[in-house]
Amino acid sequence: MSNDLHTGFDETKYPYINKGLEGIVAFSTTKSSIDGQSGELIYEGYNIDELAENSTFEEVCFLLWNDRLPSQEELDALQEKLQTRRELPQVIIDYLHSVNKKSNPMAVLRSAVSMLSESDIDLPDDSFYEKAINITAKMPTIIAAFSRIRSGEKMVAPLSEGSTAYNFLYMLNGERPGEQAEKTLDLCLILHAEHGMNASTFTCRAICATMSDMYSAVTGAIGSLKGPLHGGANTAVMNTLLELAEQGENADAVAFTKDKLKKKEKIMGFGHRVYKVFDPRAYHLQKMAKKLSEETGQERMYKWSMDMLNTMKSEKNIDPNVDFFSATVYYSMGIQPDLFTCIFAMSRISGWTGHFIEQAKNNRLVRPRALYVGEKNKPYVSISER
Ligand code: SDX
Repeated sequence: MSNDLHTGFDETKYPYINKGLEGIVAFSTTKSSIDGQSGELIYEGYNIDELAENSTFEEVCFLLWNDRLPSQEELDALQEKLQTRRELPQVIIDYLHSVNKKSNPMAVLRSAVSMLSESDIDLPDDSFYEKAINITAKMPTIIAAFSRIRSGEKMVAPLSEGSTAYNFLYMLNGERPGEQAEKTLDLCLILHAEHGMNASTFTCRAICATMSDMYSAVTGAIGSLKGPLHGGANTAVMNTLLELAEQGENADAVAFTKDKLKKKEKIMGFGHRVYKVFDPRAYHLQKMAKKLSEETGQERMYKWSMDMLNTMKSEKNIDPNVDFFSATVYYSMGIQPDLFTCIFAMSRISGWTGHFIEQAKNNRLVRPRALYVGEKNKPYVSISER
């Protein structure tokens, strides 16, 4: 039998290949715990529902970087550092003005964050906490600036006051956001901050484990999050809903969903490698999506979402994940769909850097094996005889 993987290699003969590392425990961590059967998510000992109710994104950043909640003084100090480090170096502003306006925002973010490393050139390599703050402070500015520049608008400089959520909406829209909009985005940032060994965090830790730098690890993580099977799903969810909207006000979301399933298409925003029940984050996002869609006259969008949700449950017994309702929330806030994954990234930077700090404290090179399925000892044939 040919060993060629592409001509019917029978992987079941090698059950020890866990495709996609499914079920493999490769690290120990205190950053978060995910129970896929009960739908429980815990950050550093605190249930996500408690944090959603009582915390802020900045407090969650401190928690993920220090393994504990801050005192008021410590939180104020972190806030002050984040507020005073939002400005971008000129080299990045020049890049944002020169890059192709049609570029994918996640590709622009990935390149800009990679360029950020030179702004920390005088920091000792192991200043992980300060670098985490610097990158977390600047990512929202990069995203908002590119969004405005590509639309022909002037960049809006960050304020030296206010939360990450407040400043992002201010820099994006050019006007100070209302309290509700700030609270909504802050809650989204809390919900997206950390999620165990997801693909982008694994990427970050694998790069950290070679003793490479935090900017390389975060650049790799952004590249991983960009994919539609991971963070890119929220933009894909919005594109699906907009595709449905093209069928008019009375579009049939149930038939639309069934048709896609019949064509063996993956419905973005549904399913999860770990959660086999409703993603606990989706509960909070669903509430926000319902409220915002009513306030902005987008009830149709929410109704279609519920029709899709019920169809996926009845047809495939598959539940929504974090990306499904976040799409409607961001859309109702007037944010452009191709920026949704960037918002995921400007939150998950806290989890990525938290894992980086944890990995660096107890490091071991990440290097799994691969089963060779090719031929062996083939005789070399000179090119004239091929
Ligand atoms: C995130 O890991 C994390 O924690 C990620 C994340 C985080 O916070 O970091 O939670 C964020 O990335 C959420 C996931 C966003 N991605 C999507 O919404 C893309 C759509 N979802 C699927 O591609 C899928 O559910 C994955 C990739 C998320 C998980 O897939 P698995 O674990 O590899 O499962 P699978 O693809 O093998 O599917 C198992 C079965 C298959 O059916 P059969 O072929 O066995 O009949 O379920 C079906 C799949 O076809 N299935 C779906 C589906 N998801 C799974 N069918 C239709 N639509 C879907 N969305």
